[in-house]
Parts: sequence; C-alpha cells; structure tokens
Amino acid sequence: MTMPLLQVQHLHMEFKTSRGTLRALNDVTFDVQPGEIFGIVGETGCGKTVTGLSILGLLPQSATITQGRILFDGNDLLKYSSKEMRKVRGAQIAMIFQDPTTSLNPVFTLGKQLSWVIREHFGISEKEARLRISQMFESVGLPDVERIMRSYPHQLSGGMQQRVMIALALACQPKLLIADEPTTSLDVTIQAQILALLKELCNRFGISIILITHNLGVIAKTCDRLAVLYAGRVVESGPTRDVFKNPQHPYTNGLMRAIPKPSRHGERMEVIPGTVPLNSGDVVGCAFAPRCKFTMERCRQETPTLEAVGYDHYAACFLREENRVG
Ligand SMILES: Nc1ncnc2c1ncn2[C@@H]1O[C@H](COP(=O)(O)OP(=O)(O)O)[C@@H](O)[C@H]1O
Ligand code: SF4
Ligand SMILES: [Mg+2]
Repeated sequence: MTMPLLQVQHLHMEFKTSRGTLRALNDVTFDVQPGEIFGIVGETGCGKTVTGLSILGLLPQSATITQGRILFDGNDLLKYSSKEMRKVRGAQIAMIFQDPTTSLNPVFTLGKQLSWVIREHFGISEKEARLRISQMFESVGLPDVERIMRSYPHQLSGGMQQRVMIALALACQPKLLIADEPTTSLDVTIQAQILALLKELCNRFGISIILITHNLGVIAKTCDRLAVLYAGRVVESGPTRDVFKNPQHPYTNGLMRAIPKPSRHGERMEVIPGTVPLNSGDVVGCAFAPRCKFTMERCRQETPTLEAVGYDHYAACFLREENRVG
C-alpha cells in the first residue's frame, strides 16, 4: 500500500457539557489512501460527524481533543493554528453535509454565492469565475448553468442542491472530500445518482472521499475500505469486500442485517435491539455488550482493542480470541 493521504491515530475527543464530560471519541484509528472512497458507518450518535469535524478542525468550542494525531500528507493537523487550518479547509480538505440548505444562504442567488467563493479562492475576475463555475457544473452533471445561477437555493430540488454543494466543494480542487450523509435526505433514485457521481469524481480527479453514512448498504456499493464506528470507537475496519464476506464484529453483522432490501419491499428489516450508549466514556468493558448476543463475562470487564484479523482487516472483539482458545 502507498503512503496514506490521511492517518487518524488514537484520537480521543471529549465535550464539556453541563452534565459533565462526555467522551465522544475513544481511540479512533483509521487511514485513507489516495484516490479511494473510505466509508465510516455506524448508528446515530456513534461519532461519525465529530470524526469529520475533527479532521477539518471545525469542532465546537466545548470539544477538546485529548490525545491522538491526524496526519494529512504526513503533517499533524492538530498542531496547525486556526489560520493554517483555514487554508487547509479552503484548498485541501472540503466537506459536504446531509442537508445542503444549511450550507447555502437562502437570500442570495447561487450565482452570487458560488462566484464569491471561487473569486476569493482563486483571486480571479467575475467573468473567469463564471467560466470556472460552468465547468464545475458540467463535471457534476448540472445542466443549464445560467438558470441555476439565477436561482435561489429553495428553487432547486434536494438532489440539485447537493450537486451544487459537491461542485462548490470540488471547485477548490481538494485532495480529500468528507461527505457526511450526503444522500440521507434524498429519495432512493437520486441517492444512487449522487453516489455514482462521487465515485466518478473520485476516479476522474483522483481525490479521496470519506463517505459517512448510517447505511451499510451505501458503503457496499460505493466504498473501497471502511471503518465501523460504535460508541466513539472503531470496532471493525478493512477492505469492503473482506468485511462483507467475513464480518468479525457482532455490530457489523447487525448493521449488515439492517440493510434495507428493496427487492423484499414491505418486509421488516432486522434492527439491532437496544441503543447506543450516550456517554461511551462511562462504559466499562465492551460498549456493545448490552446489545450483543455473544457477551461473555470478560466483555463486561475489559475493553477489546483493534486486532488484525486478516490482511488490512481489524476488529475489536474477544469472540475470535476466545474461540481460538476454546
Ligand atoms: N456540540 C456537542 N456537544 C455535546 N455533545 C455532542 C455535540 N455534538 C455531538 N455530541 C455528542 O457526540 C456523540 C457523537 O455525535 P455525532 O458525531 O454527531 O454522531 P453521528 O454523526 O454518528 O450521529 C453523540 O453522543 C452526541 O450526542
Ligand atoms: S467483545 Fe464481547 S460483547 Fe463485545 S462484541 Fe465481542 S462478544 Fe460482543
Ligand atoms: Mg452525524
């Protein structure tokens, strides 16, 4: 494998809240290769978004990273000043969110908003900016540039808005795009189109993408490698094919069974009983133990750490070890 573009190593992050300290990330470790789509999957509250925000240096004031490193092209982003991070965000790492309307200003036309960003970034004229924008629109499959430029955000469909956001994120030619649930608010057909677009952009421009989703089915279709997050920890990671063929963590299995199957419409999908612990920092032992079918005595006392279970495939569960012994 080549030198990773991004290496998140032993990242610990906590929030100060009125009810005390909430540990949101515990020892999060994964890496992203150049030109790949890397999936981060887990239920709501597992720490996906805060992982993305940590990489971008956009965590709220109440958050503190207490340990770990985030190496981007070999440099530790956690050592950067806020000014340096602003530069990284403008030029090297971009992020798009679930709801594109939160990133677009409702009172200005898209033309105004886009050309501000482009002109600021490249220091170019209005005319050059317009040209650049039409090229970007073309690359994300948006027709009729003039009409879109004259539109206000609410005049476009959700899928079109998300395409505009992707175009905007790509305008600054980042090396890494973090897409946080980019298709969750869209209907299934549009979802598929946006995912296909991300894949195509990844191939065409050689950028890396971190695709954050709660739906393992989205990962199966799109990602080269993935990390499964549970209660602020990576519980399994590896190449998508290997993880799907041979899942090593009961939580991954649960997510696999929860993939909605369109072919069996109307059938209830299996959900994992129970809920994600609110403050994973309070948990003793394996955080998944209260929901796991295989919980052993040991699981309630010790916290499993990621161990290699195959080539580039890791899991944090005692089952394998215990089976091997017994
Ligand atoms: N600003 C915040 N203040 C306090 N806790 C937060 C804040 N943002 C997120 N959290 C907590 O951090 C954990 C991870 O949240 P998040 O990354 O949003 O999860 P996900 O994106 O996987 O749904 C959750 O327990 C959430 O309640
Ligand atoms: S460590 Fe134990 S409780 Fe945790 S997932 Fe594995 S078997 Fe289940
Ligand atoms: Mg989220």
